[in-house]
Amino acid sequence: MLELTPEEQEMLDGKKSEAVQKAMEIVVALANIYGAKNLVPVKSVNVSGVSYKNLGDAGIDFLNEWAEMGAKVTVPTTLNPAGMDLLDWREQGIPEEFAEKQGEVIEAFARMGIPKTCTCTPYLIGNLPGFGEHIAWGESSAVCFANSVLGARTNREGGPSALAAAVCGRTGNFGYHLDEKRKANVLVNVNCPVEKGSDFGALGHIIGKQLKNDVPLFHGIKEASQVQLKALGASLAAWGGVALYHVEGITPEAREKGMLAEGAKVISVDSLEEGYKAMNADTDEVDFVGIGCPHASVGEIEKVAGLVKGKKLKAVLWVTTARATKEKVPAAVKTIKEAGGLVLADSCVVVSPVKSIGYKHLATNSGKMAYYSPNYCGVTVRYGTMEECIQAAIDGRWPK
Ligand code: F3S
Repeated sequence: MLELTPEEQEMLDGKKSEAVQKAMEIVVALANIYGAKNLVPVKSVNVSGVSYKNLGDAGIDFLNEWAEMGAKVTVPTTLNPAGMDLLDWREQGIPEEFAEKQGEVIEAFARMGIPKTCTCTPYLIGNLPGFGEHIAWGESSAVCFANSVLGARTNREGGPSALAAAVCGRTGNFGYHLDEKRKANVLVNVNCPVEKGSDFGALGHIIGKQLKNDVPLFHGIKEASQVQLKALGASLAAWGGVALYHVEGITPEAREKGMLAEGAKVISVDSLEEGYKAMNADTDEVDFVGIGCPHASVGEIEKVAGLVKGKKLKAVLWVTTARATKEKVPAAVKTIKEAGGLVLADSCVVVSPVKSIGYKHLATNSGKMAYYSPNYCGVTVRYGTMEECIQAAIDGRWPK
């Protein structure tokens, strides 16, 4: 039975405002469905469902209704990627009509007090939750990173539930907010080297395919950078709906005793070949290369710049990132541009109108992009290391 504090009851009764009441109604309904005993205050929110490609006109109407009701966020809130770079969308090839609609979406969020910052790596640009903090984030890869790498606590919020949490500052205390749901119920013995960035996405594919909302604990991964953990989480989330994983000796909660639940299933991985094979189409043609899923870090952008320096690209190259990250590396952005590539802020291959731009054959180093792009963007996919992807951008075909 859900118990509310007197203040929460007042919010639900409409004593604060109509918008807060509406937000509480959503949060309380979800808390009741999932059997929460109480609500918890959230420190931050990341709202997904920002691209006009996903929202459509019905989504714009919903957001405008909330803005007109006077809804305002009460905790630090960031937005997931939009369907275009909010400044350089013409260069990106976005149709005018789409840009107009996307602009309406962003304006509606801005009226609710949300900065025009669209990224799936809010943790790289200042929305960095602390260990054990309760947050309400949407965006599967960001949720996986926040839960697993930072040890913060969030369920996979949908667009409306995250917005509601941002307005009333609360979420239901269920799922990954609770200690018992954070224990691993699957032990993954990794018996092969996992070293390159793309190895982590391939591992995410292999394990994700075998899980459904489970919590895996990886044993046998010797080292992993934050960028590699971001790739692993994004791939696990896309292929298996995973919202939390642990890596022995590396992620914070894996260090705690008793993190493996009794009776946990055991899986072994002896080779990553199956993951690479499954994410590679039977064509060498490449006319489009996407790097930065999840959004690229400073180091990743600089690495791309090093690989394209002095070259002329035959395929279109998009490096997607947060605007604040892009602003930190002007020299690398210039180098990539000189080679013919683009560093795009606010945006993402999957949620952009790629089909209407007309690209056909994508190369990527992201397991998540490999999952979504065939259906969402109508492209074939080649998957591999960043070096292979950039070579494909230079040659206009996948390297032998
Ligand atoms: Fe981010 Fe888009 Fe990939 S939201 S995780 S760049 S699919």
